Amino acid sequence: MTDLNSRHGLNPPHSEVVNACQQIEPCDALDMGCSNGRNALYLSQQGFNVTAVDSNANAIGMLQSIVVQEGIGNIDARVYDINEAGLDADYGFIACTVTLMFLDPGRVEAVLADMQARTLPGGYNLIVCAMDTAAHPCPVGFPFTLHEGQLSTIYQGWEMLKYNEDLGTMHNGAQLQFATMLARKLA
Ligand SMILES: C[S@@+](CC[C@H](N)C(=O)[O-])C[C@H]1O[C@@H](n2cnc3c(N)ncnc32)[C@H](O)[C@@H]1O
Repeated sequence: MTDLNSRHGLNPPHSEVVNACQQIEPCDALDMGCSNGRNALYLSQQGFNVTAVDSNANAIGMLQSIVVQEGIGNIDARVYDINEAGLDADYGFIACTVTLMFLDPGRVEAVLADMQARTLPGGYNLIVCAMDTAAHPCPVGFPFTLHEGQLSTIYQGWEMLKYNEDLGTMHNGAQLQFATMLARKLA
């Protein structure tokens, strides 16, 4: 399934997106902070109807050109500033992998509330986000990082299918904790 990605010079999809797809039936999906589409292309190949948003117009342009070249009919790629917290449709699956930490910290609460509200009953949210904790202070100057237990608190009342705050290593060798969550909204 990564052939399409490699043909266009993209990395393979995020492993948590691949894992989530083993549990989630194809549905209307939103890829928040899609960049040039490594996850959106994978989701599309799995049969999801994908809306892919990013504030980077160049990245969206690249994804749109792949969509046209490949004749893909189930990806709608658009420029959108996630900080607006103004999604205009409901989804069965919203993926937000390694994107929250680039947002305006003063908007993250509203963004997560909007994601939750725009998830259909029984639908899923997947979030992977860098953390800053006493044990492992974040060595990267992200505008936003999560604190211990913060994400699970925000998703109280959802079914936690996966939740951890494990230590991870970035491409440059820096070690930091990431919150990884796959949660299901009650039906
Ligand atoms: C590290 S990349 C992650 C891309 C993708 N989710 C993945 O897993 O490969 C973060 C993405 O978030 C996007 N981004 C950052 N701030 C944003 C915002 N306010 N609105 C929309 N996208 C944003 C960036 O343009 C970038 O493509």
